[in-house]
Amino acid sequence: MNVIILAAGQGKRMKSSLPKVLHPILGMPILFHVLKAAKTVCRDGLYVVIGVGAHEVRQWTEGFFTKDRFCFIEQKEQRGTGHAVLQAAPYRKKLSEDILVMCGDTPLITPASLKTVMRQHRRRKAQCTVLTAMSENPYGYGRVIRSHDGQVLKIVEEADASADEKSVKEINSSTYCFRRDALFECLKEIKPQNRQHEFYLTDVIGRMIEKGMTVEANCTEDSREVSGINSRADLASVTSLMKQRVTHELMLSGVTFLDPASASVDAGVKIGHDSVIYPFCVLEGNVRIGENCRIGPSCTIRNSVIGNGTTALHSVITDSVVQDGSRIGPFTHLRPGTRIGRKVRVGNFVEIKNSAIRDGATCAHLTYLGDARVGKRVNVGAGTITCNYDGQSKHKTVIDDGAFIGSDTVLVAPVKVGKNAYTAAGSVITKEVPAHALGVGRARQVNIARWTKEKKRNKIKK
Ligand code: UD1
Ligand code: CA
Repeated sequence: MNVIILAAGQGKRMKSSLPKVLHPILGMPILFHVLKAAKTVCRDGLYVVIGVGAHEVRQWTEGFFTKDRFCFIEQKEQRGTGHAVLQAAPYRKKLSEDILVMCGDTPLITPASLKTVMRQHRRRKAQCTVLTAMSENPYGYGRVIRSHDGQVLKIVEEADASADEKSVKEINSSTYCFRRDALFECLKEIKPQNRQHEFYLTDVIGRMIEKGMTVEANCTEDSREVSGINSRADLASVTSLMKQRVTHELMLSGVTFLDPASASVDAGVKIGHDSVIYPFCVLEGNVRIGENCRIGPSCTIRNSVIGNGTTALHSVITDSVVQDGSRIGPFTHLRPGTRIGRKVRVGNFVEIKNSAIRDGATCAHLTYLGDARVGKRVNVGAGTITCNYDGQSKHKTVIDDGAFIGSDTVLVAPVKVGKNAYTAAGSVITKEVPAHALGVGRARQVNIARWTKEKKRNKIKK
């Protein structure tokens, strides 16, 4: 079955320069979630009606779904949902006999509901089957008007509804299956005679009934699933529903969330079983977390891979990799390009950027490592920093396997500390420390005997 997705509207109520369908929900545009559901049920090709921000919408879609082929249809003027579908008329011969029509602003729709509508539509040989829902707060949606015996008669938009019609709780989800020929026949006959002077797709239903065609409705149990996004307030409430769905699915797959309501997990984030997510974690973008991890409280992890059995407390990890069994935090900042090996310990107030820290190394407190290569089992003492930037360019620091960096060492890059070498605490290391050597780069201590007593005596004299 072909799918037509309506995504040309301006989204006036969003009051935004970004096209409505590109506003993100859990890291992905609204349209992504719709396309994902559509793709699961449709193998025959997707038609996307674009208009406002056409270039951006098309660019994003083609850039993201590189393996799929979409047919973009441009609606030059936004004259309503009926007018939007009518733009597909030139493709009519190519389209399947039944067509699924969806809106690009309804991202919670599930493949299961789409399948149910498609099945009912085929079984009953209807000209139209519309997905509806019972809503306690139907404001803003088209209301489904039925006859006494329950037959769908028409759909009335909020703006055009009488007081009686407004009290109807059954709403139109804007997801429909249509018989192709009946759809285009009726679309040509509808008129923009309504408060908004638009060609309403919903008027096709009334027209079909007048013509004696069969219109069916499938009422979903969960009205939240058909929530459409028209305003920023809708965006927030749909985001919170989507969050619940994402964390719920992860919990079903074996992940513990101690406080799911406080977590913000993007769609597509993967977490292995028996991992525990503590309160206030934000997992954004392309994040993969292994099994048996303890993440949080209060971690922000973006586009990163975290290995099995890892812990991360109160930390920020961006565009980085942490391998199995490592301990991160509390209060660690792993910036882009960081690669932490196995069983590494990175502790409080440590910032690492564009560096590789190999297996078994320890960097437990108050350290900055930038553009560094730190070998296996290296111990980086408290207060160590790399001076990787000379004001113009960045330079590399290499610390070979087994080296011991004394506390408060300043490594002035480019510089190397050889295998099993030591640096003395408080050293400023500006040249290579050869393997097995001790690098000392500090002033020698001098003790001035009886200094305090002398000082006091001098004061009294004054
Ligand atoms: C629409 C339905 C309403 C339903 C609601 C469900 C109509 C007339 N109304 O109302 O019955 O309850 O969805 O969410 O169909 N679009 C275009 N071109 C246009 C106009 C709109 O492509 O000229 C697209 C929009 O980008 C959007 C979708 O169609 O993705 C729906 O348009 P919108 O204006 O949001 O319709 P609603 O007022 O929500
Ligand atoms: Ca809408």
